[in-house]
Amino acid sequence: MVERKSIHGEWSSRLTFILAATGSAVGLGNIWRFPYVAGENGGGAFVLVYLLCVAVIGLPIMIAEILVGRRGRQNPMDSIRTLAEDDGRSLHWQWVGLMGVITGVLILSFYCMVGGWALAYVAYAVQGSFIDIESADAEGLLGRLFADPWALLFWHTVFMGMILTVTTRGVEGGLERAAKYLMPSLFAIMLLMVGYGMSSGDFDGALAFLFRPNFAALTLEGVLVAMGQAFFSLSLGMGAIMIYGSYLPSRTSISGSAVAIAAADTAVALIAGLAIFPVVFANGLDAGEGPGLIFVTLPLAFSKMPLGEVFATLFFVLLVFAAWTSAISLIEPAVTWLVERQGLPRVGASWVAGGVIWVLGIASVLSLNVWSDVTVRGMTIFGLLDYLTNNIMLPLGGMAVAVFAGWVLSRRTTAEELSDDSPLWYGLWRFLVRYIAPAAVGVVLLTKLLGLA
Ligand code: PHE
Repeated sequence: MVERKSIHGEWSSRLTFILAATGSAVGLGNIWRFPYVAGENGGGAFVLVYLLCVAVIGLPIMIAEILVGRRGRQNPMDSIRTLAEDDGRSLHWQWVGLMGVITGVLILSFYCMVGGWALAYVAYAVQGSFIDIESADAEGLLGRLFADPWALLFWHTVFMGMILTVTTRGVEGGLERAAKYLMPSLFAIMLLMVGYGMSSGDFDGALAFLFRPNFAALTLEGVLVAMGQAFFSLSLGMGAIMIYGSYLPSRTSISGSAVAIAAADTAVALIAGLAIFPVVFANGLDAGEGPGLIFVTLPLAFSKMPLGEVFATLFFVLLVFAAWTSAISLIEPAVTWLVERQGLPRVGASWVAGGVIWVLGIASVLSLNVWSDVTVRGMTIFGLLDYLTNNIMLPLGGMAVAVFAGWVLSRRTTAEELSDDSPLWYGLWRFLVRYIAPAAVGVVLLTKLLGLA
């Protein structure tokens, strides 16, 4: 058994790891992004492809990432390099880790801004801005926020400040505690909202939309987006889960943890869909409305609910927390990389990474207003960043990790890390990670790239 130690510490138990990794996975991706991309891509068939991607691509890659992280016990770049060295393979595999660091930085630049939207909505909820509003008011509220670069920048900055207060302190303190209490509360309040959708919204319409596959509505683009969403939602393809794996105590089952994390993440996404679409259909809103979807829909639901202001405040506070625990994991690869590779102290590394990301985020902020006509193929800077990172970079990074774990690492190495699993389960994992996951990602990316469909 190879026993290394992470200089950043270790999770206090397997459960904390599961909670923290779930905290990373469950975030804006589930509550903000899943409903709107499902809405834009026609619902049912998209959801089905998404679920398939989670099971046959996401899960095996998640296991691979945890395994590499736990054995390497460093930032993604050095964990991969160390494992390649152990097995006598090319050290160039480490560049996959560096790409992950870069992907995380790019994602967090706009993720931080969207976290800022959630913060702004906490303020609105507290001020009672959702009382007695109609669709047009809800749209107006969001429109005014988007049109105001200074307000967006302010909330973007506050959210970055929140990220830095945790990352400067390291793993155990802030991170663990946040995950332990906040995740379950979020889950509870979301169930409550589903209950509201059932009693007052078009629940049947939502069920049909999400779960009755209409393959005519599914395009190749939709398949790509579903796959990208699976990577994004599960925090895969850029080293976030790998980093969390590097803090995992040695004697804990990896596969069991991965299944729990993926299941919780998927459940939250589906519940978010069930909370939002009944309101969308009951109020004649457009399911394909785009990134503003939940920020228009939910205030409307709250405006009609008894005690709506209280629930609205609670909900947006919890959304901020969910985004926070994810954002921390998006910056962690960059921070550990700066500490271990560049020799910076943790605090300095956090400020450097945070500063770069904050500056990059300004481009997304401005793309909603001042630069809204700067577009590439119809996408604003924010849209383009989201598209490139989620649909291209994460799948590529994930595919590389799958190939690394399945083909490059020796069977002995992976079997040793997954020794808690039955031979059958290990065989299934190895088959998926060697053949199915890389091939599926490759086929989708290539057909898209070559414009074959
Ligand atoms: N999974 C997070 C979410 O759904 C986002 C994320 C992506 C976090 C990649 C870490 C790495 O919001």
